Amino acid sequence: MSALAGRRVVVSAGPTFEDIDPVRFLGNRSSGKMGFAIAAAATGLGAQVTLVAGPVALPTPAGVARIDVRSAAQMHDAVMATLPCDVYIGAAAVADYTPATIAPDKLKKQPGQGGLTLELVRTRDILADVAAHPRRPRLVVGFAAETRDVEAYARAKLAAKKLDLIAANRVGVDGSGFESDDNTLVVFDADGATTLGPASKADVATQLVDLIAARLP
Ligand code: PMT
Repeated sequence: MSALAGRRVVVSAGPTFEDIDPVRFLGNRSSGKMGFAIAAAATGLGAQVTLVAGPVALPTPAGVARIDVRSAAQMHDAVMATLPCDVYIGAAAVADYTPATIAPDKLKKQPGQGGLTLELVRTRDILADVAAHPRRPRLVVGFAAETRDVEAYARAKLAAKKLDLIAANRVGVDGSGFESDDNTLVVFDADGATTLGPASKADVATQLVDLIAARLP
C-alpha cells in the first residue's frame, strides 16, 4: 500500500485570471493538465485529494473533490481553507501581479490617448504562506516554470519559500510545459535532483506522486 493512502492531499492547478474590467483580464497559458494529472495520480494511490482549480474546462478526475476559483486571491483563500492537510502540491500558474483596482465598467479608449498604463500590485504567495502556516503540511511541494536558468531559479524558490521539494519545468520552448500533453520535470530537494520524463503528463504525475509518497513516514 502506498504511503499516500488515506492522506489528505491538496493540489492547485491551472491559471488564475486577474480581472481588469468586466470584460478583460490578465491570464497565462496554463491549461491545468499537469495539476489535474497529479490529482488523478494521487487519488489512484488512495489519497483524499482536493483540487483547487483555476479557470479551465477539464473534467474532474474521478474521486477528486474540486473547488473552482478564478483569481489568485480566491485561490489563496480556497487553499488556506483546506488546511490542515498532509501534502500540498502547488502546480497552478498563479499570477504574481494583479490590477490594483478592477474598473466597474468596460475601459474605453480616450481620444488622443496613445497608450494605457495599468497599475499592478503583488498577489499573496500561496505556496510560501502554506509552507509558513502554523498547521504546515508534512510536505510542501512547489513548481517552478522557467524559460532559462531553470536549476538556479528553482533552487532559489526551494530555499526562499521553505519547500520540501520543487518540480521545475522549462516553459516557452519546444512546446513542453504549458498546454502540451507531455512534460519533463526535474525535482529538486536540498540534496539532489531527479528527472521525471520526458513523458505524458499522466506518467510524469505518477512518478511525482510516487516520489512524494516515498518521503512520507
Ligand atoms: O497547466 P499546464 O498547461 O499543464 O502547465 C503546467 C505548468 C507549466 C503550469 C506547471 O507544470 C507549472 O510549472 N506550474 C507552476 C507555474 C508557476 O507559476 O511557476 P512559478 O515559478 O511562477 O511559481 C513558483 C511556485 O509558486 C508555483 O508552485 C506556484 O504555484 C507558486 N505561486 C506563485 C505565485 C503566487 N502568488 N502564489 C503561488 O503559490
